[in-house]
Amino acid sequence: MSQYDSIGASYNVLEQLAYRAVEKYNVYTTIKPLLRPGVHVLDLACGTGFYSSHLLAWGAEDVLGVDISSAMLESAVSRLSSEISAGKAQFVLGDGVIPQSFAPDNSRGFFGMVFGAWFLNYASSKDQLVAMFTNISLNLTVDGVFVGVVPYPTNDIQERAKNSEQISLRQYFPRNELVIMLRL
Ligand SMILES: C[S@@+](CC[C@H](N)C(=O)[O-])C[C@H]1O[C@@H](n2cnc3c(N)ncnc32)[C@H](O)[C@@H]1O
Repeated sequence: MSQYDSIGASYNVLEQLAYRAVEKYNVYTTIKPLLRPGVHVLDLACGTGFYSSHLLAWGAEDVLGVDISSAMLESAVSRLSSEISAGKAQFVLGDGVIPQSFAPDNSRGFFGMVFGAWFLNYASSKDQLVAMFTNISLNLTVDGVFVGVVPYPTNDIQERAKNSEQISLRQYFPRNELVIMLRL
C-alpha cells in the first residue's frame, strides 16, 4: 500500500495554495513551446491528474498517467472522466521505478514528452534514481523531452535562501520569495 492511498482526493486541496499557482505557471511556460501536435505525453506519478488535465489543455495529443497509488488514480479518473471517454486520457497503476514500456504496443520510444511533477524525489537511492531515468529514457522518442518538477536539493533552509538570490534563479517569473523568520 502506498502512503498516498490514505490521501487520495484530499490531495487536491493543494490546488488552492499560492505556491501551486506559481508552480503551474512555471510548468506551463516550460512545457507550452514543447507541446507540438501529435505529442503523446507520459505523466509519471500523475497523482490525482492535476497536470494530466493541464497537459491536455495545453496541447498534448493524449496523456497516459501512471501512479503507484490506486486512491490517487481513482481521483484522476474522476477528474478526467470525459477525456477518458474521448480517448484522450488513460490512467494505469504502476511503479515508475521499474523500467517498462507504457506504449499501447509495448514498444520503446513512443512518448514525445515524459512529465514528472514530484516524481524523482521518491527515489530512495542512487540506483532507484538511475532506474527512474532508465524508465523515462526507454519511453521517450529519440527527440523527446523530460520535464520534471523537483524539490530544491538541500534541506538547509539558510543555504536555500542564499542561493535563491543567485541571478540564475531570479530570472524566472513568477517566483516565490523565500523569507526566513527567526524567533530569538
Ligand atoms: C506529491 S504527489 C504529486 C502528484 C502529481 N504529480 C501532482 O503534481 O499533482 C506524488 C505522487 O507520486 C506518486 N508516487 C510515489 N512514488 C511513485 C512511484 N515509484 N511510481 C509512481 N508513482 C509514485 C504518489 O503516489 C503520489 O501520487
